[in-house]
Amino acid sequence: MVQTLKWIEAKSYEEMSEIAANIFKEQLQNNKKSVLGLATGGTPEGFYAKMVEAYKAGEISFAEAKSFNLDEYIGIEPSNKASYHYYMDEQLFNHVDMKREDIHVPAGDPSQVEKNTDQYDQMIEEAGGIDIQLLGIGVNGHIGFNEPGTSFESYTNVVELTESTREANKIYFDSIEDVPTHAITMGIKTILNAKKVVLLISGQSKQEAYDRLRSGEVTEDFPASALHKHPDVTVIYCDVK
Ligand code: PGA
Repeated sequence: MVQTLKWIEAKSYEEMSEIAANIFKEQLQNNKKSVLGLATGGTPEGFYAKMVEAYKAGEISFAEAKSFNLDEYIGIEPSNKASYHYYMDEQLFNHVDMKREDIHVPAGDPSQVEKNTDQYDQMIEEAGGIDIQLLGIGVNGHIGFNEPGTSFESYTNVVELTESTREANKIYFDSIEDVPTHAITMGIKTILNAKKVVLLISGQSKQEAYDRLRSGEVTEDFPASALHKHPDVTVIYCDVK
């Protein structure tokens, strides 16, 4: 099949973060009302640091931008350090001028989840759609928390996390038992609806996922392969082959 993904090899984690931040900076400079799709995890931490730096240097403003995060664990409070609400506040929102009402992270509160799954895609649509979506990739090829086997037609929904994902994420919890079993995530279709996608891949643990994505195979067993169906994806990678 025709490979449409654009691949950029970075020499280091620092460079990967910088290239990604430059793409987002340009997006915000060209359209200050941009709708940003944001991701959590270890991989984008350097990216967020660069975005905060750029904001503090007066290069960009988030005052008119909106954001939608990919996912959240179900059943842990936003005040829990392992929650993605907490992560986003720490990494970005507490340091920049985006208005609180323009920040959206799916609710992990069990009483809100149903309402959120119904409304999240609609809220994105009403905001004009995501202009640029940041993604990481799981060791099993997940994007957001869309685990292997997820339909490419899926919208925001509740998912059960695989053991490999819970294992990979247990570093953020006291023990594996504390890692939630379920999450709320944008679906694959939600992600494919973004106008532009930037995927970051960093480190040896992602080697297999990188190789599989690079092979061009498209299968629901490997969620990231849905990106081959998207016309504007940039993959920035480091410390993989
Ligand atoms: P990581 O997570 O950046 O912490 O490796 C990526 C993901 O699971 O999507």
